[in-house]
Amino acid sequence: MERILPYVHVFLFSLFFICFPQILQLQASLEYTRPPPRSIKITPHLGSDSDPQQVHVSVVGRDHARVSWITDSKKAPSIVDYGKISGKYEASATGEHELYHYFFYSSGKIHHVKIGPLKPSTTYYYRCGGTGQEFSFKTPPTTFPIEFAIVGDLGQTEWTASTLAHIGEAGYDVLLLPGDLSYADTQQPLWDSFGRLVQPYASRRPWMVTQGNHEVETLPIFVHKAFKAYNARWRMPFEESGSSSNLYYSFNVAGVHIIMLGSYTDFDVASDQYKWLQADLAMVDRGRTPWLVVLLHAPWYNTNTAHEGEGESMRKAMEGLLYQARVDVVFAGHVHAYERFTRVYNNDTNQCGPVYVTIGDGGNREGLALTFKDPSSNLSLFREASFGHGRLRVFNQTHALWSWHRNNDTESIVADQVWLESLSVSSVCMDPSTSANDEL
Ligand SMILES: [Fe+2]
Repeated sequence: MERILPYVHVFLFSLFFICFPQILQLQASLEYTRPPPRSIKITPHLGSDSDPQQVHVSVVGRDHARVSWITDSKKAPSIVDYGKISGKYEASATGEHELYHYFFYSSGKIHHVKIGPLKPSTTYYYRCGGTGQEFSFKTPPTTFPIEFAIVGDLGQTEWTASTLAHIGEAGYDVLLLPGDLSYADTQQPLWDSFGRLVQPYASRRPWMVTQGNHEVETLPIFVHKAFKAYNARWRMPFEESGSSSNLYYSFNVAGVHIIMLGSYTDFDVASDQYKWLQADLAMVDRGRTPWLVVLLHAPWYNTNTAHEGEGESMRKAMEGLLYQARVDVVFAGHVHAYERFTRVYNNDTNQCGPVYVTIGDGGNREGLALTFKDPSSNLSLFREASFGHGRLRVFNQTHALWSWHRNNDTESIVADQVWLESLSVSSVCMDPSTSANDEL
């Protein structure tokens, strides 16, 4: 009965919106009409109330990690035992927990425990709550090479499962997710199901995420506070980068400075996010982190008819900052397709602008964004409406290989790849006299 209870809530939610469809009509009218959706894959919890579930790991600072998990039991302790030998835990850390309520739904106990200091490129074995199943994860390297898996708009369908399998079987150091995780869309048990679906991957490597529109989850009259579930479940290291919000933050890993921006919080010149971004970019030392990578949800450059222009106001507000900082590459999600642009600034090719990539093709229930504008733009170099994921292999301070791996269901096929050269070694772009002439 306890395992059925969450889905009773899903049924009640669905019934509510069937009875009062006008509440969702406004939002639906703004959405791109996609092919019939694929069914949701529900991942049940098979353990006891105190067994950890939805385990995932994130990077915190230079040599720490945060282990997050959920228990149905409110008595389970927020403790992680860990060590470099399986079954032998030489260290232990205690953290904190939180709960949230959403309409009829009450979350399980959401635990967050920071562990470390940890050695780089090392496998740690860990146990959550002082008992039960052992997990393991590998810490990222502190020097090149490093490999990122990048995928947005995951959801939880059979397509998601095969994309995740492709990501997992080839190995990687850190996963970067530019928004739209569970597609719970107010049905909170689907957040739990998503956490269980990704656990085999997110418990083994750090998963670093930013938010998309599907994380907002406000409900007229009933839920005014945005990002309730997302912020409680997917806590990222925002304090460590001087941010006051879990919706935008940055972190260093190996020689890469990664900035996660929030497309669905204020970004205008007077906003906290803008000021934080300005300060964060000013502190970037390209000698220490030659690569500068940004992730956000709604793409600033897009030749798909889906979500056309939705990133435009953010682009107008922030593009100048990224350009002047010589950001190497910007990854976005939202559009359920793959697209790679040349180096761009202000709607024109520019050798000192970032490469823009849309990678919103994880496999969610809404299906693909099949229609690209015709004719295309000379800025767009490769575009295809297929599921898949990307990999950024940063070999050294100058060169990285970007590849897009199409999900052919049973196989992962490299359908696009290109070498990137960091702008940090571009004599033209890093010349102070060139930078002084940048038009912002
Ligand atoms: Fe989205």
